[in-house]
Amino acid sequence: MAADTPVLLLVHGFPLDSRMWFAQVEGLSGLRRVMAPDLDGHGGARDRQPSDSIDGLARQLARHMDDAGVDAVDLAGLSMGGYICFAFLRLFPERVRSLVLVDTKATADTEAGRAGRDALAARIREEGAAAAAEVMLPKMLTPGAGEKVREWVHHMMLEQPPEALVADLVAMRDRPDSTPDLAQVRVPTLVVVGDADEVTPPAEAEAMASAIPDARLVAIPGAAHLSPVERADDVNAAIQDHLR
Ligand code: MLT
Repeated sequence: MAADTPVLLLVHGFPLDSRMWFAQVEGLSGLRRVMAPDLDGHGGARDRQPSDSIDGLARQLARHMDDAGVDAVDLAGLSMGGYICFAFLRLFPERVRSLVLVDTKATADTEAGRAGRDALAARIREEGAAAAAEVMLPKMLTPGAGEKVREWVHHMMLEQPPEALVADLVAMRDRPDSTPDLAQVRVPTLVVVGDADEVTPPAEAEAMASAIPDARLVAIPGAAHLSPVERADDVNAAIQDHLR
């Protein structure tokens, strides 16, 4: 692949690491140089200090780009990864060529949502990553997803260092509302949502897609929150269309 091939940067969600994008790394590498970093403290970056601010997480993406000598990327994020994309757009708008928002939302946490973050963080401090897995796994996949996939996602969750998960929860709890930014998005944007996503439901995706100028919305049938894993081919096809 030529050194000047454009880069697709994939940002993982909570409580996961970059392995959640394995099918996109494989399926989209013909079109783009794909970068899928682990956020500091997660997965293979577990030795690095996690960040508990959404801007701190966005700055990690800039660091990965700087390290790779990349000026601008097609930027894609799932859920928490999408919240980080919004922060990245605010901080480094000139470094985004296009945007893919997957199973995510622009709105901030409600009061009840913020209290839920604190409650889960307290449980993770006591019980470890298993508490995050217990809360999140049932929401990630539809009942139709195979047992092997469910076990694989479960293992990925259990492998995350508890400190990184607690930092994620603080960053998500305190993130600002990105809704006012949507009308200012000036890059081609694709919004993808599993039609059975209960964490960031289709209504949130529709609201984002209608507020971002010329955004395209693709609903993925038979997928819950983790559509890039559960319906990888459909998600890859949507992203391929977008990148072309
Ligand atoms: C995620 O999938 O990254 C998180 O579930 C997002 C959230 O809890 O808001």
